[in-house]
Amino acid sequence: MKKHLCLLPLLGMALSACSTTGSGPSTAHLPETTSEAAVAYAARCGSCHAIPHPKRYSYNVWLRMMPLMEKHIADRNMGKMSVEEQTLVLAYLKQHAQ
Ligand code: HEC
Repeated sequence: MKKHLCLLPLLGMALSACSTTGSGPSTAHLPETTSEAAVAYAARCGSCHAIPHPKRYSYNVWLRMMPLMEKHIADRNMGKMSVEEQTLVLAYLKQHAQ
């Protein structure tokens, strides 16, 4: 008596996840990807260009960069960063800067 169990369930293949090549800013390369600070950083600093990695510059350079970016943000009426947001983002950059 033979049993032909050839019909392997294909369930595992049906649910393959989408890749992360969507258009939204991907935080995958950032330190502490899911922290509140990383998310705020990605949301604020990834909408006009790719999110720069914190390691790209020293903290002093980031400090000088912030007002420039805030000007871009203001120029495009994108909503000023609150003091809390700035503090969060700068603390994040400080922690992970070059
Ligand atoms: C409103 C659009 C906008 C937002 C939001 C924005 N930037 Fe930029 N960013 C620019 C533009 C435009 C440039 C091109 C250089 C320039 O004109 O200042 C730039 C360039 C840069 C560069 C590259 C400078 C270089 O040396 O090559 C870095 C780094 C940067 N931004 C960081 C940030 C950070 C950090 C934030 C979040 C606080 C941010 N940006 C948010 C518009 C933006």
